[in-house]
Amino acid sequence: MCGIVGYIGDRKTEEILLEGLRRLEYRGYDSCGLAVSNLKNKLQLKRAKGRVEALADIVAAENFKGTVSGIAHTRWATHGVPSEDNAHPHTDCQGEIVVVHNGIIENYLELKDELLKKGHLFKSDTDTEVIAHLVEEKLKTLNKGANSIRAEMPEPVFFEAFRRAVSVLKGSFAVSVLWAKTPGIILSARMYSPLVIGAGEKENFLASDVSAFLKFTKKVFFMKDGEIAVLRKSGVDFFDFGGKKIQKENSTVNWDLSMAEKGGYKHFMLKEIHEQPQSVENTLRGRVLPVSGELLEKELGMTAAEIKKTGGIQVIACGTAFHAGFAGKYIFEKFGLRTEADLASEFDERSRLLEKNTLVLAISQSGETADTLYAVKLAKKNGNKVLAITNTLGSSITREADYTLYTHCGPEIGVASTKAFLGQLTAMYILAVNFAFVKGNISEEKARLCVEELLKIPRWVEETLGLERDVEKLTLSFSGKEHYLFIARGINYPIALEGALKIKEISYVHAEGYAAGEMKHGPIAIIENGMPVLAVAVSGPNLDLIRGNIEEARARGAEIIAIVDRESGKKVKAAHYLEIPATDELFSPLLTVLPLQLFAYYIALNRNCDIDKPRNLAKSVTVR
Ligand code: G6P
Repeated sequence: MCGIVGYIGDRKTEEILLEGLRRLEYRGYDSCGLAVSNLKNKLQLKRAKGRVEALADIVAAENFKGTVSGIAHTRWATHGVPSEDNAHPHTDCQGEIVVVHNGIIENYLELKDELLKKGHLFKSDTDTEVIAHLVEEKLKTLNKGANSIRAEMPEPVFFEAFRRAVSVLKGSFAVSVLWAKTPGIILSARMYSPLVIGAGEKENFLASDVSAFLKFTKKVFFMKDGEIAVLRKSGVDFFDFGGKKIQKENSTVNWDLSMAEKGGYKHFMLKEIHEQPQSVENTLRGRVLPVSGELLEKELGMTAAEIKKTGGIQVIACGTAFHAGFAGKYIFEKFGLRTEADLASEFDERSRLLEKNTLVLAISQSGETADTLYAVKLAKKNGNKVLAITNTLGSSITREADYTLYTHCGPEIGVASTKAFLGQLTAMYILAVNFAFVKGNISEEKARLCVEELLKIPRWVEETLGLERDVEKLTLSFSGKEHYLFIARGINYPIALEGALKIKEISYVHAEGYAAGEMKHGPIAIIENGMPVLAVAVSGPNLDLIRGNIEEARARGAEIIAIVDRESGKKVKAAHYLEIPATDELFSPLLTVLPLQLFAYYIALNRNCDIDKPRNLAKSVTVR
């Protein structure tokens, strides 16, 4: 996830852009840059590794005169490590066309190959740079045999070149382009990445979200997928990718600035909970079909021969990432891949006992957690190969590991991890299906069925999040409770642990997650009248047994909140039901965790807790 901003008008462009970037830093902050143009058809471009303030220092030392338009970007690396060279804006060969982009261009390697063959010179490792060269190439084609067009009417030619360029891009993008020869316009297009236009008086804005320009205008046009905006000082025109002009209704935004930064949500955690359909989609994108084993080679550099040689899998991780890894143990084992899961902080002794052909799977959202990094070093010392699953490009874990699979969930700001967890789970399904296929544990048909099921998950996640109002209402009667139990069996046992962790982290109440079958060996003793017990009871092989466990808790006065699907809901007796879409139990953790995240969020909200920055905790724990 990155942030883009654009401005055209009479104010000091560079200052408006910097102000916008500061507001969008929450979207990523490993590097940033801006490009401005003046009426003398001159572009000035500045980039910096690090935060917006580093760029502001560079801009302050520079002489920007007569600027009329500009675009800017704050980056959260996806392709190419965070560095000045990889920071946006990116340029074409002549340095006349500049581009900022949020999203992922899936076919950039194919496009880059074609452009290289045509003699284009690339200066970065990013997917974005192909857009600048592509526009340059399209301009060249349009001008062939009609050299005069460029001088006489560069704007229509520029528009056409841009339209043709965005039409061949695959993947997700909110992209904006400036051309030195047309300082009076900015072109921008959207496909699956957010983009909003701000309409002012003799000035116009664009950005990844309204917070970037809310101080100047509240009149906005929300761009839809497949739309192009042409910004001039005097107004904005909209077109589809076919070049047909379209009419768009504007809206008035009533958010204040801090609300806008969070997309209108009260907290980053809630925003991130709602970003989960997109997170799963981002993790899946381009990685599921066809199941051939090539994916692992392409993504990880792991050959089929290497995969066949691996024995078991050893997961190491901390906190929520550990719960994802623990669920991973069940996922991998369902596919016949023997797996152990250990807390990274408890891995010391065990590391020396690992068989050499065990593949170590280190999971970390930040890629910087000290315990996980230390455990990775131990595994390496023992001679094991390490595969990292992380959300953060260029993070320390990617440098230690032999292979890396990125979750591409975008930056997670809330301390309580939500969307990263779903991305980690999704990554493990992808790995499990591919590993099992390459090792011959499952047929091609079975792999295809699994993939088809996975592709439905984003929609089901969306549907499940529709439970929000029910969960909110439900929590009103529980906010005073100081003790909670979360129970589940099998593949959902780690989800019970995660549900309990979420509520502990942000509500400061006592909660325990238990394997429901263990209740009778001790924890059932703490159940008394009115104790809330959240039970995951979805259809599948574990349903009959968990029904029994729920009955045992009910008989002792527990107030049961059951996470069910339509069928299992008919069989389970509970005080309250939260119904999720029915899926194979194998994939159910991707949904069952969602009402538990929402439950923790609303309990914390009712208790006036500082949800995004809970006491005593940190997002990234870099001490052991
Ligand atoms: C901290 C965070 C947790 C996170 C854990 C592991 O404790 O508060 O939310 O799950 O670290 O973080 P990682 O970045 O390694 O996934």
